[in-house]
Amino acid sequence: MSNIEQTLSIIKPDAVERNIDNEIKQMFKNKGFSVVKEKKIQIEKSEAEKFYKVHETKPFYNDLCSYLSSGPIVVMVLEKENAVLDNRKLMGATNPKDAEEGTIRRKYGISIDKNSVHGSDSDENAKIEIDFFFRD
Ligand code: CMP
Repeated sequence: MSNIEQTLSIIKPDAVERNIDNEIKQMFKNKGFSVVKEKKIQIEKSEAEKFYKVHETKPFYNDLCSYLSSGPIVVMVLEKENAVLDNRKLMGATNPKDAEEGTIRRKYGISIDKNSVHGSDSDENAKIEIDFFFRD
């Protein structure tokens, strides 16, 4: 049974700053993802705080929100079968040190904060996150 899904992907400031956003986008396309929506934006810290609200109580929340709003990001809606899970596999572990060979974070991630990409962690959150950035 086909299970076409959409998921939200963010190419984070560390990657956009190094001009590797197109290389990362190509990695998604090579794995069969279609980029159905895309925009390059810079968000306010208050918007980052809303986006990452699930992490509100974590010790890294403030730094995380400062970081995501520190420079331009590329926000994309990716589509394919099992997009949510396959995107997580392609990104690799949150900490680039733990990410497997062939993953985006292994190849481009600098640290647990500057880990180059964000991806929705469930189908439910994918819908919420897509709506957050592409409501209009
Ligand atoms: P992301 O997938 O965007 O979701 C939340 C982000 O918090 C995560 O990637 C990391 O970049 C960042 N982060 C910083 N410290 C931690 C930590 N100890 N555990 C998980 N995520 C962390």
